[in-house]
Amino acid sequence: MSLISILKKKNNKILFTTPSHGGKFCIFHKFYQWYKSDISEVDAYDPQKGLNEAEKKASVIYGTKYTKFLTNGSTSGIIAAILASGGKKILIWNNSHPCHKNGCKLAGAEIIEYNLQLDEEWGVYKAITAEEVQTLIQNTGADTIIITTPSYEGFAANVKEISEVCKKHNVTFIADEAHGALYPFSDRLPESAVKHADFTVQSLHKTAGGLNPTALLHSNSINPTEALAIISTTSPSYPMLATIEANINYLNSSRGRKALEKLINNIESLNIPRGGDDITKILIKKAGISGYDLSETLFNKYGIEDERTNNISTMLLCGIGTDTNNLNKLKKALNNLGF
Ligand SMILES: Cc1ncc(COP(=O)(O)O)c(C=O)c1O
Repeated sequence: MSLISILKKKNNKILFTTPSHGGKFCIFHKFYQWYKSDISEVDAYDPQKGLNEAEKKASVIYGTKYTKFLTNGSTSGIIAAILASGGKKILIWNNSHPCHKNGCKLAGAEIIEYNLQLDEEWGVYKAITAEEVQTLIQNTGADTIIITTPSYEGFAANVKEISEVCKKHNVTFIADEAHGALYPFSDRLPESAVKHADFTVQSLHKTAGGLNPTALLHSNSINPTEALAIISTTSPSYPMLATIEANINYLNSSRGRKALEKLINNIESLNIPRGGDDITKILIKKAGISGYDLSETLFNKYGIEDERTNNISTMLLCGIGTDTNNLNKLKKALNNLGF
């Protein structure tokens, strides 16, 4: 039985167990439904069994060896991947998310930092190439490399080529795909690392419609369950885990895939010059004004807030939940600004 079905089940046992709110006592009424399905590993429900089944089903959907549901973001997935990999000499980007360094520190691994080239045209970092990975491995003798792909602004690495280089040199490839959780569900987006890397981490909450901080850890290498247990609570939130199951079911359904196609079509129809490899991250710039000024104008004059800005360009992040009306408003604003 799936985790979702287990949480829907009516329980006829009297529970003298945690959580002691018993699904009835609720501090903030808006969350009443949440309380109702907030259960522990009691025999009356056995949610762990449902979770195991849901994760197995997810691994079939993604074509991975293991897929684990995370309720502490990609942050926990990266740290668990590092611990599971057993890496002792780890290459990390010197501008990567802090969890990369923190994971290495926890693992007691030697950290070797690498630089990425700056894309002068857009003011953002370029994706690492397979040739650069090969050189880094050969020059350092590292046993593990963590690659952020796509970047925040949507520059994606060739994960297939990189995995081939890593395999050739017996190096563990950890892909931080926090910003690419939609990639497995459309050929019009960059290729996902889930089938190529040893470990791939994706934030469902960033682009794929998940609640903060739901995420996934995929492995084609060893089972990361033990490593995850080191950094996880023994009292997981089953309602939150069930949202992950529902989220994946939706993304994989024809309804979800159609919604993603529609999103991509809508962004395409904005018909504006964009940067990067990922259409859902609308990276724009305007000659004569800085990215910061463009960002401020969008915010102050049109009430539109971007996700990230640099001196040259501004990025407006879209995801499966992006509203078509809001995209139309963005189109109007950009037309007014002469895009
Ligand atoms: C590239 C990258 N990796 C990892 C993370 C951590 O993700 P989460 O917030 O899901 O823990 C972030 C968050 O911003 C990120 O940008």
